[in-house]
Amino acid sequence: MSTPHEAPDATLQSLDAALRPSSWDDYVGQNQIKASVRIAIDAAKKRGGMPEHFLFYGPPGVGKTTLAHLVAESLGSPLKTTSGVAIERAADLAAILTNLEPNTVLFIDEIHRLSHKIEELLYPALESGHLDIVLGKGPSARTVELALPPFTLVGATTKVADLSGPLRSRFGGGVYQLDFYTESDLRDIVQRSASVLSLDAPQDVVEHVAARSRATPRVANALLKRIRDFSEVHERPLSASVCDEACELFGIDGLGLTKDDRRYLTTLREAFRGGPAGIRALAAALHEDPDTLENVYEPYLLRLGLIERSSRGRILTPKGREYLG
Ligand SMILES: Nc1ncnc2c1ncn2[C@@H]1O[C@H](COP(=O)(O)OP(=O)(O)O)[C@@H](O)[C@H]1O
Ligand SMILES: [Mg+2]
Repeated sequence: MSTPHEAPDATLQSLDAALRPSSWDDYVGQNQIKASVRIAIDAAKKRGGMPEHFLFYGPPGVGKTTLAHLVAESLGSPLKTTSGVAIERAADLAAILTNLEPNTVLFIDEIHRLSHKIEELLYPALESGHLDIVLGKGPSARTVELALPPFTLVGATTKVADLSGPLRSRFGGGVYQLDFYTESDLRDIVQRSASVLSLDAPQDVVEHVAARSRATPRVANALLKRIRDFSEVHERPLSASVCDEACELFGIDGLGLTKDDRRYLTTLREAFRGGPAGIRALAAALHEDPDTLENVYEPYLLRLGLIERSSRGRILTPKGREYLG
C-alpha cells in the first residue's frame, strides 16, 4: 500500500528540499505556531543564548522538518539532523551531543523512536546541558558529568502519544501540534511552488491541486509535480482538464483519495462489515503496517469523517458508506 504521492522516497525528499520555504514569510499558515516560535527565538537572541527545546508533531508532510530548518536559520545556527531510529545506543547519543558545534540546532526526527534508556540519558542534557557518563563497571563504577556545548533540540514526531511524559515536559520552548492546512493556505503553497518550478499555473489549476492535496503541503507539491510531468509528456499546457485527466490516470479522486484509501474503506466495509475493526486485524487484511495505517492513511480519512476511531476499533461512518456508493 505505497502511494507514490505520499511515500517520502528519494524523489520526494529532493522535491521537499527544492520547495522547502527558506524564510518565515514563505512558510504559509500555522500562524500561531510561527508567532510563538519566533518569539522564543527572538527572546533568546536578545539574551545572547539559545532558545529552549521545541517539539513539533502532526501527520507526515505538514512542515515539521521545515520548521526545524527555519529555527536554525533564524538563529544563524548550524543544523544537525538525525533520527530516533539512528540513535540506538547510549554511545551514539553521547557521540552526537559531545561533537556538536556550540549553539547548534539538533533536529531529531521521529523522536518517538528513541528507546527509554536513551530518553533518560537525554534528560540531563536537555535540562542542564550535561551528560551523565558511567565509567567502569560493578562496585568501582562511577558517574561523571560531562558538560555539553549549548544547543537547542528540535524534536518531530507523527506519534506524540508514544513520547514519554517526562520527555515531553522537557520541551520548554513549547510542544506544537501542526494541523492540516486550509484550502486557502494550500492554494498559496501551490502558487508558490508553481513559481519556484517556473510553471505557468492558472488559478483553476492551483485550486484543482489544492483541493486534492489531502490538506497536506507535501502532497500538494508532489501532485503539482506529477501533473506538470503529465502535461509535459502530452505537450499540453496546464489546465483544469489536464489536471482531471492526470488525476484520473493517477487514481486520485476529487477528495484527493487514492486507490489505497479506497481499498482501506472497502476492506473495512467488506471484510469487517463496516467495523468496529481492530487496527491490527485491519492492517493484516490490507497487508500493511498498523503504524502506517494509523499515521499516514487514517488522519485524513478521519478528517473527512469517512471513518471513526472508537475504543473497539475503526468504524466506517454513514458518510464513508455514502462515499463508497
Ligand atoms: N507551511 C508551509 N508552507 C509552505 N510549504 C510547506 C509548508 N509546510 C510544508 N511545506 C512543503 O511541504 C514539504 C514537506 O514538509 P516537511 O517539513 O518535510 O514535512 P514533515 O517534516 O512534517 O513531514 C516541504 O518541503 C515544503 O515544500
Ligand atoms: Mg519531516
